[in-house]
Amino acid sequence: MSSGSRRASRHQQEKDDDAPQWIPGLGSDKPKPRTLGTSFFGYVPDAFVEKTPYLPSERTADSAKKQAELEKSAGQRSESASEISEQDATAQRDMDASSDEGVVTEEVIVPRRVVGIAAEPWNTDALDGSAQNRLLIKGGRVVNDDMMQDADVYIEDGVIKQVGQNLHIPGGTKVVEAKGRLVMPGGIDTHTHMQLPFMGTFAVDDFYTGTRAALAGGTTMIMDFALPQRGESLVEAYHRWRAWADPKVCCDYALHVGVTWWSPKVAEEMRELTDDHGINSFKMFMAYKDTWQLGDSDLLESFKSCKELGALAQVHAENGDAIKENSKKLLSMGITGPEGHEMSRPEEVEAEATNRACVLANQVGCPVYICNVMSKSAAAVIGENLRKGKLVYGEAVVAALGTDGSHYYNTCWQHAAGHVMSPPLRNDPRTPSLLLELLNVGDLQATGTDNCTFSASQKALGKDDFTKIPNGVNGVEDRMAVIWEKGVVSGKMDPCRFVAVTSSNAAKIFNIYPKKGRIAVGSDADIVVWNPNATRVISAKTHHQAVDFNIFEGMEVHGIADYVICHGRVVVEEGELRVQSGMGKFVPTPAFCPYVYGRVEDRDRALAPQKVERAPYDGPVVQLNSQPQGAVTEHITAVQQENFYTRGPTRSGGVNLHDSSFHVSGAQLNDKSPKRPSVKVNNPPGGKTSGSFW
Ligand code: URP
Ligand code: ZN
Repeated sequence: MSSGSRRASRHQQEKDDDAPQWIPGLGSDKPKPRTLGTSFFGYVPDAFVEKTPYLPSERTADSAKKQAELEKSAGQRSESASEISEQDATAQRDMDASSDEGVVTEEVIVPRRVVGIAAEPWNTDALDGSAQNRLLIKGGRVVNDDMMQDADVYIEDGVIKQVGQNLHIPGGTKVVEAKGRLVMPGGIDTHTHMQLPFMGTFAVDDFYTGTRAALAGGTTMIMDFALPQRGESLVEAYHRWRAWADPKVCCDYALHVGVTWWSPKVAEEMRELTDDHGINSFKMFMAYKDTWQLGDSDLLESFKSCKELGALAQVHAENGDAIKENSKKLLSMGITGPEGHEMSRPEEVEAEATNRACVLANQVGCPVYICNVMSKSAAAVIGENLRKGKLVYGEAVVAALGTDGSHYYNTCWQHAAGHVMSPPLRNDPRTPSLLLELLNVGDLQATGTDNCTFSASQKALGKDDFTKIPNGVNGVEDRMAVIWEKGVVSGKMDPCRFVAVTSSNAAKIFNIYPKKGRIAVGSDADIVVWNPNATRVISAKTHHQAVDFNIFEGMEVHGIADYVICHGRVVVEEGELRVQSGMGKFVPTPAFCPYVYGRVEDRDRALAPQKVERAPYDGPVVQLNSQPQGAVTEHITAVQQENFYTRGPTRSGGVNLHDSSFHVSGAQLNDKSPKRPSVKVNNPPGGKTSGSFW
């Protein structure tokens, strides 16, 4: 797609660059200063001023060294990322020549004009501390999840060094003009499946096109899933995903690992992954029978392991057995189209599994994160569990926030199939609105996309059978804009909450906060300079994803990422992408996240079962294994072996009438007794019945 066509799809609606319109989410005028405490976040000019003095080169070298150590330990830097093109090297020389310590040379990058910054090499050690790696974002409004402030942001070597006003900036620093813009943490997409091998094919957006598209939309980090086949080593799957991703990623990424089968070896590998490979979350599927689905006992085992390791248990919550049964029935009725996908996976199938996941995780005290909450019913289950103090988190995906399941009933097969994903979009127009409201109040905390894209010809694998349509949709590029539109522009959430649900909460839940998900000194310079006044129309014709379909086709959204800065490097400028494959890095996620596990130990202690202290029973105890005496006793012994609870025979050998003869299997206590003849009583007390008894 040409950048020109992309730009053509934008309708800039700024009235006057000098008088920024603080819409949406901020009102039409610049808000009056408020003090903290007037609302859950405060607009506090200067309250967060970090007038960090200019850091001497030793400090810079030190932080660069730490960064390098971290990267080295994760084995993460890709070779291609550090290659410097001739053009880049020339640009670097030019910039170094213009560097003039002590004098602030403001080389202003005016929005929508490309000035000055060439596609510099990614965070190359040789450039650390050089003017090329210095950037000032000037005049914008910094938005964090808990507050906003008008402040400049100074970045050096990929890290935020100063936030505030009247900063001391070294000479030669490049400047991004952010007047009238919101300066927010880059988005973190908690749920993607780039190039996933799935349902006989591979997702068409790979780690290059997918992360490139992510950056275009203001997302600077994705979290993908390494999903082993049943019986396959989890560690091998992890390495396979790393080998796919490392040379291709344009933005940072982390991995969750799937537990798609269970054995003691899986438990050992989970430990290895958390101890040595930076994995702190494992995903279990309650759907996809015969491939990834786990039964309840394996779910319990995996939850126990997660808890022991201080990892977060993630769950795809749908009842796979019910889905299989429903699908068979629908196909036998001749319902083969995409509507069958939605019909076979009704809300209650999602809600049941969501509740079961909460119950099972709670039995072992393991925090559980419900992925892709698609329905009102499942969200309600999460809300109920939260209010009972359970350790549960809920993730919304942008598909469910921006569109709905009515598309499955579209008479164009291709259009309907383009929306097939699991759990399905709900055919209830209130769902997106409700899920957004729940994100705002905190019943749901994070947002992902489940980005797993298949082009029309791949979807056509299921043209005669909806169960064969590869499941998955787009979203990684449009998540920020759609949530801004549906959340902030609609008045459902303010910009702080937007930041919370698009980055900060994810960073907290997956233990990478405040390195990610915050604009603060010491945080990674992953930043989006958001223009809330500009609009664009989403379309597959202009998006950066490889897939040929977009579930948000035709939606006009306010909010465009004017600039995206990834590790201090300007990678998006006026919708122009300047990325290199491999410039992103793997981000290890450490176990025992304080945000998730902070209250687990105390909770376990507080809720620990208490033994009742009492005098021991000193009466007689029946001998269950005593020699049987006579036919009836023999029979009772046999029944006991079937796990009946029984008080045993009376002293005369008769059935103890205090016992129930009911058994869940349908067996009766007396099933094995020789049949007794029925005795007809002609005039029973209480009158005749037509039945007989013995
Ligand atoms: O439809 C979806 N979600 N496809 C990807 C696999 C999964 O369920 O996460
Ligand atoms: Zn998924």
